Amino acid sequence: MEKQSTVLVGVTGCIAAYKSCEIVRGLQKRGCRVKVVMTEHATHFVDPLTFRSLTHEPVAVGLFDDPSDPIHHISLAEEADVFLIAPCTANVAAKMACGIADDLLTTTALACTAPLVVAPAMNVHMYEAEATQRNLRTLKARGARIVEAGSGYLACGDVGRGRLADVDAIVEAALEALEGARRADLAGLSVLVTAGPTEEPVDPVRFLTNRSSGKMGYAVAAAALARGAQVTLVSGPVALEPPAGADVVRVRTACEMLEAARPAFADADIVVFTAAVADLRPAHPADRKLKKGADDALLARIELVSNPDILATLAQERRAGQTVVGFAAETENAVENARVKLETKGADLIVANEVGEGRAFGTDDNQAVLVSRDGERALPLMPKRQLADAILDRALELRAAH
Ligand code: C5P
Repeated sequence: MEKQSTVLVGVTGCIAAYKSCEIVRGLQKRGCRVKVVMTEHATHFVDPLTFRSLTHEPVAVGLFDDPSDPIHHISLAEEADVFLIAPCTANVAAKMACGIADDLLTTTALACTAPLVVAPAMNVHMYEAEATQRNLRTLKARGARIVEAGSGYLACGDVGRGRLADVDAIVEAALEALEGARRADLAGLSVLVTAGPTEEPVDPVRFLTNRSSGKMGYAVAAAALARGAQVTLVSGPVALEPPAGADVVRVRTACEMLEAARPAFADADIVVFTAAVADLRPAHPADRKLKKGADDALLARIELVSNPDILATLAQERRAGQTVVGFAAETENAVENARVKLETKGADLIVANEVGEGRAFGTDDNQAVLVSRDGERALPLMPKRQLADAILDRALELRAAH
């Protein structure tokens, strides 16, 4: 039987500490063994007995609490398959960024080589302070997943960013980190993903776009992160939370997407172009709202020009060792079109899928055929997250074959 994974949950001194109880339960429901380490300040918000009752494990607070284990921080660090700090205060994030180890939690963090997931929670001004943002960036650059705080009504009465992310998102991020640690086959690789639709302005209030939800691209980014890759996600406007740990560049138009993707493309080992880029854009977007009546003639004849093909343009700039994946979403003959696109766009792999009413766009499942120069693989209908893994598996096989 597979060994049960241990998530070490670090709880720091912040009112959101009460939500850690739900996080512990959420992880247990997903089959994890959970151990809790708390800072002294956290014990003012939640009694260690609460966590001891939930986990049936001793709850560690002080460096010298356990006389039977004089180097408790090392044994805790070694037991952890993932170290999740939720909520993480500005102070603890700052200490970890500097390598300060002055209590059991921060000493364990320094000694721990397991993946680190950090869910900050604090007052909006503390969260937005340059120092805090820099510390979180430092942790992220070292490979920690930061589950960004949300916006809303804060315990201090302020409204803004700083609220602990949703419990489910935090549990999911810890599970992704566990999965990645188990299967780190993209460790050391950079993956660039383009996702979502683009919006091409007609005037300041109108634009041309399409039905892409971004779900496929976000699933590819999440899968690549889970497997240990460094991920850049260049995203058009979508209503999705980006996966924790991705470098996200938000764009609106196709031209912006090309410019944002270009520098990341140069560094990327695997590039997955899932974005549904608008093929055309208004040639002369108006700088004022076009008026019904007075501007009917302009609205009736919007002159369109072609957008750059981001995949085809960047594939021409590719260097040896890069693997380029594109999509062919078609209402008919997706596989034949995919074979053509392999050549015209200069891709190594095209994911062909038929789209239409209720298919592919906006749904959680997708059915695709993976088309490469050495043949095709038809996959059954599956969740987009699973398809994302299948695409990355194939990309890795193609890399190995070169
Ligand atoms: O030509 P078509 O739009 O069907 O090609 C789809 C593939 O090309 C997708 O991978 C899409 O992300 C990419 N593409 C692009 N830039 C465009 C059009 C498509 O990167 N302007």
